[in-house]
Amino acid sequence: MIGATGPAGQAVAVQYAAIGERVVVGSRSAERAAATVGELRERWPGRDLDLVAGDNRAACEADVVVLAMPWEGVPGTLADLSDALRGRLVVSMVNALAKWGRYVVPVVPPTGSVSAAVALALPESRVAGAFHHLPAGAWADLDHPLEADVLVVAERRADAREVVALVDRLPGLRGVDAGNLANAAGIEALTATLVGINVRYKAHATLRLGGVEHG
Ligand SMILES: NC(=O)c1ccc[n+]([C@@H]2O[C@H](COP(=O)([O-])OP(=O)(O)OC[C@H]3O[C@@H](n4cnc5c(N)ncnc54)[C@H](OP(=O)(O)O)[C@@H]3O)[C@@H](O)[C@H]2O)c1
Repeated sequence: MIGATGPAGQAVAVQYAAIGERVVVGSRSAERAAATVGELRERWPGRDLDLVAGDNRAACEADVVVLAMPWEGVPGTLADLSDALRGRLVVSMVNALAKWGRYVVPVVPPTGSVSAAVALALPESRVAGAFHHLPAGAWADLDHPLEADVLVVAERRADAREVVALVDRLPGLRGVDAGNLANAAGIEALTATLVGINVRYKAHATLRLGGVEHG
């Protein structure tokens, strides 16, 4: 996990660690990563979470690398790590959002989406997008799994299938192949709408598609 010290990365980390995966909690600072691992273990003392602290470069050694950072940090981070990410499956959960007065609004990057920007920055990696809509605070609660569909985008269908299978392993979640990276623009922008709904209704809204069967 790159950027795993924030709420989004922590949620992904505990969810996969809870199903028995080893997760490298990455950060720009190995000390911050170690502190995060300590906090997560303290929060879930009864669970045998295989969490390893490292810097973001160490996190690139995982088979699947999830990006969880503010979108402004993505170009610089990937410029530094593109060699380490060569050949890896990189899953971006990054949304381009900004504050507009008291509202959270979508920002459309020049590439159309952050996922497309990630693919441009990492031409030798396999890039996908997923997890954009899951409210991290609620998702991080291992005792109360969220019920949600997770839209997965990737340029290659085999990569999308791999990420859908990874999503399907988590309690309560169902992965749905939502097409190629061009579709990430709408998916990332929809996050701003869901954030607004959560604020208005004091909720943790998730997405559920009707009429789609798979498996
Ligand atoms: N929060 C949610 O509910 C949620 C849900 C789904 C998707 N997302 C998306 O996931 C991403 C992360 O969300 P978050 O709420 O966890 O964000 P965050 O707390 O603001 O940032 C996560 C981590 O990114 C690192 N970081 C911050 N600025 C950076 C920069 N300029 N360059 C490189 N690394 C930087 C920091 O880690 P270090 O300082 O330790 O390096 C920080 O702890 C966002 O794009 C968000 O839209 C969030």
